[in-house]
Amino acid sequence: MKIVVRPDAAAIAELVARLIADQLRARPRTTLGLATGRTMERIYIRLAALHRLERLDFSQVASFNLDEYIGLPASDPRSYRKYMDRFLFDHVDILPERTHVPDGMAPDHAAEGLRYESAIHDAGGIDLQLLGIGETGHIGFNEPLSAFASRTRAVTLAPHTRTQNAAMFGNDDNAVPPRAMTMGIATILDARQILLVATGIRKARMLALTVEGPMTAMISGTALQSHPNCLVLADEPAASQLTERAYYDHVARYDPEILALPG
Ligand code: GLP
Repeated sequence: MKIVVRPDAAAIAELVARLIADQLRARPRTTLGLATGRTMERIYIRLAALHRLERLDFSQVASFNLDEYIGLPASDPRSYRKYMDRFLFDHVDILPERTHVPDGMAPDHAAEGLRYESAIHDAGGIDLQLLGIGETGHIGFNEPLSAFASRTRAVTLAPHTRTQNAAMFGNDDNAVPPRAMTMGIATILDARQILLVATGIRKARMLALTVEGPMTAMISGTALQSHPNCLVLADEPAASQLTERAYYDHVARYDPEILALPG
């Protein structure tokens, strides 16, 4: 892991969008792994602006989203498919048939998990995976006790996650679907490069545990410690509970390659 801290969420969004843009310019056929949530909104808005202002090209990009609520059709405004349309896909030249989100309406969840894994494999694997972190420490929807060897599957959301995500559901926890399809931890770790983005004070504790705590299935983000190319991008509030911050800043200062993705 390497860690880069910037003052605030706006600076992090700008940096992450620039890193993705650099990747797409170096390798137009990139396969992106995409995340949802409030943290990502600013990043997608910035990427859409780069498409508009600098002609950032998405025409050869393929994408795979991490997760989707079970029981929400793609047309539902609260689905992650619609989130992606709203914040990114409708604003860039990505081909709809190259955008993939797990099917929350699939009748057979195990079959849907296998189908999604094969689609990622057939696309040549994920080059660059964007991740946020949940307040339970989840990546994707890999809630506590998710196996590090897990693959795309149906999961039950933790009560805290339903509360965290209730805003899209009229602030009613019980209206948040209790289950979701999510890429597994092993699926995520297969990506060639990972960007873990955390902003805001509410992420401070989980970010510190993810980066510095022991690896544990209770906090799926800790699995990222085993990934050879994981860059953590945090704003000052999210970084505020990291105990070895001076060391991370030292590494960032002397590593000229820290923001150079392998492409
Ligand atoms: C959601 C998503 C995650 C996301 C996380 C953080 O539940 N399933 O992929 O990273 O929670 O969300 P936010 O950025 O809104 O804090």
